[in-house]
Amino acid sequence: MSADPTPSPASAVQTDVPDDVFARMVTLRRALHRWPELSWEETATAAAVAGELSRLGLAPRTGVAGTGVIADIPGRTDGPAIALRADMDALPIGEETGLPFASEVAGVMHACGHDGHTAMLVGAAELLLAGDPPPVPVRLIFQPAEEQARGAPRMVEEGVLDGVAMIFGGHVDRHYAPGEVAITAGAVNASTDRFTIVIHGRGGHGARPHEALDAVVVGCLLVTALQTIVSREVDPAQPSVVSVGTFDAGSAPNVIAARAELGGTIRAHDPDVRERLRQALVRISGAIGELHGAEIVVSFSSGTPPVINTPEMAELARSAAVSALGPERVREMRRVNMGGEDFACFLEHIPGCYVRFGGRAEGAESFPAHSSRFQWDERALATGARWMAEVARMAGERLSGEGLSGEGLAAS
Ligand code: NI
Repeated sequence: MSADPTPSPASAVQTDVPDDVFARMVTLRRALHRWPELSWEETATAAAVAGELSRLGLAPRTGVAGTGVIADIPGRTDGPAIALRADMDALPIGEETGLPFASEVAGVMHACGHDGHTAMLVGAAELLLAGDPPPVPVRLIFQPAEEQARGAPRMVEEGVLDGVAMIFGGHVDRHYAPGEVAITAGAVNASTDRFTIVIHGRGGHGARPHEALDAVVVGCLLVTALQTIVSREVDPAQPSVVSVGTFDAGSAPNVIAARAELGGTIRAHDPDVRERLRQALVRISGAIGELHGAEIVVSFSSGTPPVINTPEMAELARSAAVSALGPERVREMRRVNMGGEDFACFLEHIPGCYVRFGGRAEGAESFPAHSSRFQWDERALATGARWMAEVARMAGERLSGEGLSGEGLAAS
């Protein structure tokens, strides 16, 4: 997006989103961008969302899962409903974009586009309310704390999926042009698990290593050995990652460290590969420990499962994109994405689809999400809102047309 504060008209991406609806999305997005809030602290964001939904005549419920917001758009028939989801939280990053609406909160930035997701869901609500009522109710879900992968599971615990048959959402993405939507069946986000490995050696004098058991040397061998899991144990056609991100050990240059602690993340698209990575990590750690006589303790903190779009749901999402935007704007995802996304927690309970909204910003392509210079093209707001409204309608038609109950779908 350029630094020009004047919104580009939605017609620039040939959607039929009215210019005034688009302008309101841009205004909301920029206000959220200027005042970003971290996970679980999205109170002003939630208040802004609730204000917009009330303006549209809806009755939003705030304080869901802490700082989340939900609202229902009535349908022509009562439930089961279709849910549309946005995330609202920002990141602990100091913004360096130089945008006229850059963050005014030191060290906090909407560096993942969640300001846009929130604004486009409000826009989708406005589009849905402008026409005939949708076939079935549409539940709008504005969740907190996606960046910590905790918001979605807590929303589920608080019952936001009760009476909901399918759920849809998406993410802005600099790999696709504004106006495009990328939709792919299968895994579109990876599972995320953290691991901690503690190596117990024996401290000693740096001059007399034979009297000690050096946890640093054992840790270095282990870091290197762990690289063989992905390169030698997993099918190269199956995306997977093992990364050691932290290595803490030692207290002085002339003291041999008695203890080292490694921290890292493992990522996979396939649940079996996920399990295999965990098992290999435990096995290799144990073997390296035995090799050197050190005790090694491995622990995991389970994150989100992979986001997996079923073929049926991806097809429905694609049909909606073709209908809303035209076939030339619908893409397949070109690249494997090893990022995590807690939308997966909704998909553990009901079917749905997670897509990407093209938002490539000219001149800022090289700044990825979670970078202090991350930018995206606001025309993605129009495509996102238009697709969300359309998929809610088409999914509702399918639901009522086929006479399927929410329960039947959930079990499928
Ligand atoms: Ni994100």
